[in-house]
Amino acid sequence: MTTDPLRYLGAELQALREQGSALDIRILGGAQAATATIDGRSVVNLSSNNYLGLTTHPRLKQRALEAIERYGVGTGSVRPIAGTMDLHEELEQRLAAFKQTEAVVVFQSGFTANAGTVSSVLGREDVVVSDELNHASIIDGCRLSRATIKVFPHKDVGAARKILRELPASQRKLLITDGVFSMDGDLGPVAALCEVAEEYGAIMMVDDAHASGVFGRNGRGTVDHFGMHGRVHIQVGTLSKAIGTLGGYVAGSRTLIDFLRQRARPFIFSTSPPPAVVAASIAAVDVLMEEPEIIERLWENTRFFKAGLHAIGFNTGASDGPITPVIVGESAAALHFSARLFEEGVFAQGMAFPIVPRGKARLRTIVTAAHTTDELQYALDTLKRVGIELGIV
Ligand SMILES: Cc1ncc(COP(=O)(O)O)c(C=O)c1O
Repeated sequence: MTTDPLRYLGAELQALREQGSALDIRILGGAQAATATIDGRSVVNLSSNNYLGLTTHPRLKQRALEAIERYGVGTGSVRPIAGTMDLHEELEQRLAAFKQTEAVVVFQSGFTANAGTVSSVLGREDVVVSDELNHASIIDGCRLSRATIKVFPHKDVGAARKILRELPASQRKLLITDGVFSMDGDLGPVAALCEVAEEYGAIMMVDDAHASGVFGRNGRGTVDHFGMHGRVHIQVGTLSKAIGTLGGYVAGSRTLIDFLRQRARPFIFSTSPPPAVVAASIAAVDVLMEEPEIIERLWENTRFFKAGLHAIGFNTGASDGPITPVIVGESAAALHFSARLFEEGVFAQGMAFPIVPRGKARLRTIVTAAHTTDELQYALDTLKRVGIELGIV
């Protein structure tokens, strides 16, 4: 009997649990909804990215069912071999028109869109200049590219400029920011970074995962929100959050997209998104264009919930949108707060180091367009009661 060469993982897992960094994965017993059955309990759900409630929208479900009937459940191939259906092409054309760019390429996730893009447009001779709080998929893309990575402090445009200024003019460089930061809900300084990128001839890239369907006209994202059309060379969006399905995409010039279709490794070497997902995503674009009142409802709910949190006296950081952190401080305190809320019928996931910086552990709350005022009021009342009980407010 040989010893298990993976036994060291047990000790590492134990260490994660002891430092409060291991997330307990909760189980949904039904749809991703504003009030959902999670771990067998009916709770007000403040932890999904289902901003517009589209995971259960009738138009998306109908299109998905029709696509299954016509195309089956899988594509059976990667895009460049036999896995490109007319549906994929239709979605890409719809998204390009929506984003007002020449072209779009769809990936299996926002993660693979970011990682596959950064790693294919940059090489070992290049430099990437990246916000310290950019998403893990950007960080992985940077590492895979083998470019030199230079990180600037969160939203510090002056620091980004200084890094770019010190690089030779002939140096190829990419300046990259999240449009909305996923743990704090704050907007990236997209307009100011565009100026800096232009000043120093850098490629400008924005990851709009949390802005897609949320910011900009009809949810077109931060480039639209800040009026930066034509000034961001690479826009990444996700279909997995507000759009309610699964997938990611890159919007940009025809040349960029044609290049990614030849070189981005997740596009070439991983099977394409299934037809039901693609068809539902097309229906989601229709919904964004034809039912903008859903986005307005998201913003009404966001304003209502934030005002309630402020009135209670929670520290909600610098959020600009529907993601609102309730910053507690110590990891154990944040996770205990989350666990007590869950017992009282509210699911607000606790986030601890290393997902967020040490001393900034929090609840990460996200309201959606699907929440009723009663559900949000119940959540606020419960947050207040449990917050007082635990000495957080
Ligand atoms: C900022 C950001 N970028 C990219 C992603 C990845 O998107 P997806 O879930 O579609 O892979 C996420 C999701 O967690 C995110 O928060």
